[in-house]
Amino acid sequence: MLHLKGRELAWRESVRMYALPAAGRPLPKGQFYLVSKGKKTMDQSNTTVISSKMLGFMEKSSWIRKMFEEGARLKAKHGTDKVCDFSLGNPDLPPPDAFQKALETAASDKSPGVHAYMPNAGIPMTRKKVAGFVGREHQVPVSEQEIIMTCGAAGGLNIIFKAILDPGEEVIVPRPYFVEYGFYVDNHGGRLVPVGSNHDFSLNLKEIEGAINHSTKAVLINSPNNPSGKIYSDEEIRALSDLLTRTSKRLGHPVFLVSDEPYRRLVFDDLAVPPILRHYPDSLVTTSFSKDLSIPGERIGYVAVHPDASSRDTLIGALTLANRILGYVNAPALMQRVISMALDACVDTGKYQKRRDRFADILQDAGYDFIMPQGAFYFFPRTPIPDDTEFVRLLQEELILAVPGSGFGMPGHFRLAFCVDDEVIERSREGFKRAFDMAKASQGPVIG
Ligand SMILES: Cc1ncc(COP(=O)(O)O)c(C=O)c1O
Repeated sequence: MLHLKGRELAWRESVRMYALPAAGRPLPKGQFYLVSKGKKTMDQSNTTVISSKMLGFMEKSSWIRKMFEEGARLKAKHGTDKVCDFSLGNPDLPPPDAFQKALETAASDKSPGVHAYMPNAGIPMTRKKVAGFVGREHQVPVSEQEIIMTCGAAGGLNIIFKAILDPGEEVIVPRPYFVEYGFYVDNHGGRLVPVGSNHDFSLNLKEIEGAINHSTKAVLINSPNNPSGKIYSDEEIRALSDLLTRTSKRLGHPVFLVSDEPYRRLVFDDLAVPPILRHYPDSLVTTSFSKDLSIPGERIGYVAVHPDASSRDTLIGALTLANRILGYVNAPALMQRVISMALDACVDTGKYQKRRDRFADILQDAGYDFIMPQGAFYFFPRTPIPDDTEFVRLLQEELILAVPGSGFGMPGHFRLAFCVDDEVIERSREGFKRAFDMAKASQGPVIG
């Protein structure tokens, strides 16, 4: 087995499925690894080709690939329409009309320079409009200088970590968390430090405080949360800000609050996500239009820097340079022009809410224990048996695809993405029941 030295990899949980070779297809010749306990773990010829770190990541995540291969096998055997696939957070609703209109307007613009290189932080006109939008959303006046257009929220997080992390510095994140955070922080020499949350997925400030030390550079939050659907309340954000203010003073350096918000506008029951910038000056917000406009393939988002952030000018300079030298150069020009015309547009969240309600009914009916998601498009129920990977296998027997909670730093749970047709959700009803009953039966009678 390949062992990574120095520290344990906290993210045994994976890379994103669709970043991996398409399930069911053979790997390109000469490429990597396969893992199983007690067997040879990788093609020796690759040990000199692929970095040991990447081999380690791939090895740690290979079980997820296997799971997805199993999903592909089920689809091939039973037909795609027979399998209920809740494994991917890939929005299925069509982008709003306002986006389509803006796209057509932008595409027909033949002015000189519309496809040219630009300032690395983005098109000034777009940044100005985004700044106005962020200012309204976060209740703090933000100027165009404080906006950096990025290749999605993933691009935003990577420029943030590139800009602020020295080797070995730590980023605290509450569990459960989006698996790629571990990779992003590692990309820039940092260390992701997951901490516990409360039973209802709210922030556990004691856990966060307990993890803070001199190497702590940031706390990373994601609300509405992938995978739990939790929205952190105004009180929670205020308390976290107070903690970080005290901590920064004590440590003698700012501890940044990084807020990853690609689901900010996908909220239910008239809830709202509290403004982050209003609460804490050393905050950085990153988001994208991937989910609220249903355009994840277009790779467009931004970072907003608090106007009073420590070393604001240097920070903005570092983020802008990071955007360039990480190889993004700048966010896609066409999309920058499009979103500047569609900032207020959003997919029909009512449709997601209806699906959530239907799904909640199915899960409740079958006996699952779950917290109702307040936003995003995921459920994160408890598994009826402790082994979440085993339970996901049981679901596969019912032709239901889900992701084990271990993939989000929280075993004993599983994630269901409801960005799928209502019909698929309804069709899963009996399968969820049978899997639950089978799992309970496998535990045997309760004695005493
Ligand atoms: C919590 C979270 N952060 C960041 C991202 C990356 O978003 P984008 O595709 O806009 O880069 C995702 C995508 O699923 C996500 O769920």
